[in-house]
Amino acid sequence: MGVKLGILGLGTVGTGTVQLLQDKGFRHPLLQEVEIYRVGVRSLDKPRAVTLPDSVLTTDLEAIVTDPAVDIVVEVMGGLEKARSLILKAIQNGKHVVTANKAVISRFGDEIFTAANQAGVYVMLEAAVGGGIPVIQPLKQSLSVNRIHTVTGIINGTTNYILTRMQTEGSNFSDVLADAQRLGYAEADPTADVDGLDAADKIAILASLAFGGRIKLKDVYSEGIRQVSKTDIAYAEKLGFVIKLLAIAQSAAPLAAIANRTTPSSPLISVRVHPTLVPKAHPLASINGVNNAILVEGEPIGQVMFFGPGAGAGATASAVSSDILNLVAALKKSKTALNPLLACAHQDYCQIVPMAELVTRFYARFLTKDQPGVIGKLGTCFGNHGVSLESVVQTGFQGELAEIVVVTHDVREGDFRQALTEIQTLTAVDSIPSLLRVV
Ligand code: NAP
Ligand code: HSE
Repeated sequence: MGVKLGILGLGTVGTGTVQLLQDKGFRHPLLQEVEIYRVGVRSLDKPRAVTLPDSVLTTDLEAIVTDPAVDIVVEVMGGLEKARSLILKAIQNGKHVVTANKAVISRFGDEIFTAANQAGVYVMLEAAVGGGIPVIQPLKQSLSVNRIHTVTGIINGTTNYILTRMQTEGSNFSDVLADAQRLGYAEADPTADVDGLDAADKIAILASLAFGGRIKLKDVYSEGIRQVSKTDIAYAEKLGFVIKLLAIAQSAAPLAAIANRTTPSSPLISVRVHPTLVPKAHPLASINGVNNAILVEGEPIGQVMFFGPGAGAGATASAVSSDILNLVAALKKSKTALNPLLACAHQDYCQIVPMAELVTRFYARFLTKDQPGVIGKLGTCFGNHGVSLESVVQTGFQGELAEIVVVTHDVREGDFRQALTEIQTLTAVDSIPSLLRVV
């Protein structure tokens, strides 16, 4: 019997998730176990980008979270109070929950996780921070033995898009914001993004996982980007910095030591969101546009950075679906069977493309006699094998020999090798000292 999902919401994230779950080919075998049993929406009349049987779509969300047949409730409707009460009711009814709702988790996480622990169910939230970037699960599992010092994130795509454009174009905040709204990057009411509130929700969640304690949202300092001017950006640039909206959660243990405080029984941390001058060589300085990145620093791991799309249907659906698969694996695990996500699930060998079939660009450096027509002969040999050149330059001499550097367009490696074999027969060609692939 399949694992039945009750999905609350069929907007951007809900639609992306349904599309991903419906596409069973060449993804994960556990997807075969998932049944989209009910999907709750506000309106049945809206045109939808996915096809679902009439019996699946409903406007009665209460009925979904109380239906004994539903195993997992996937909350992707957004908002606060209604989402909170539906999540709590799902938990009371013994359902595991997957949510993408950082606003609800950062405000009501205390109540929700207490209820989930009492009910013996899981609440999963990979999509709540960083969209498609896997960062929740790594903090919970892969990095869990580390002592985390700092989590620093660019975790709001809208503000990063605005700051990137102000930086590259020298534009004003208000002009770029208006443009971002026209292009659909920023919401009609951009307050939560530009005032740092969305990033505050997200860093509260990351801090809680990294430092092992609950966080009250009111304790998270947050400052947005409205006051960042193009003048500040230009001065920062001259001084070797870029301005980014950083969300930072940092252990304050060294401060406690300086102040002669005894080791606190719970972690002492600072959690804040503010525009920050970031040195150009810093790993977060080159994260541009709507992308997100989270830099985790700890002991003994050192620095680890997670980078990727912080929003969007496909990216967020990837995170929601990974939570669903984790729950399906947990639900399916019997005392004797292995956890299908931990055990090796493959029996067949992959087919590997031979290197001759690889399509890539090449860089090649030739040493040739310095005589007329050599570059033409090289070009002819490449042309004979369908290899198209992006650039050819004669860079100078090595002793008596001319040095010629060639960069190709994308070519079949086998064709490129045949061209080289022909080139090596030319009396004008002395040697090919370098041959590198170009990405
Ligand atoms: P959305 O496009 O506005 O979709 C919301 C969906 O929920 C719609 O299908 C809507 O029904 C339904 N809905 C909302 N309130 C409802 C109610 N009271 N009763 C019944 N149905 C209701 O939202 P979204 O962008 O997918 O975001 C969903 C959640 O994911 C939010 O918590 C958001 O913060 C989070 N998230 C979004 C992204 C992203 O890229 N969009 C990324 C990360 C996290 P109708 O279709 O009938 O109106
Ligand atoms: N509004 C958010 C952002 C996307 O701009 O990053 C969803 O978390």
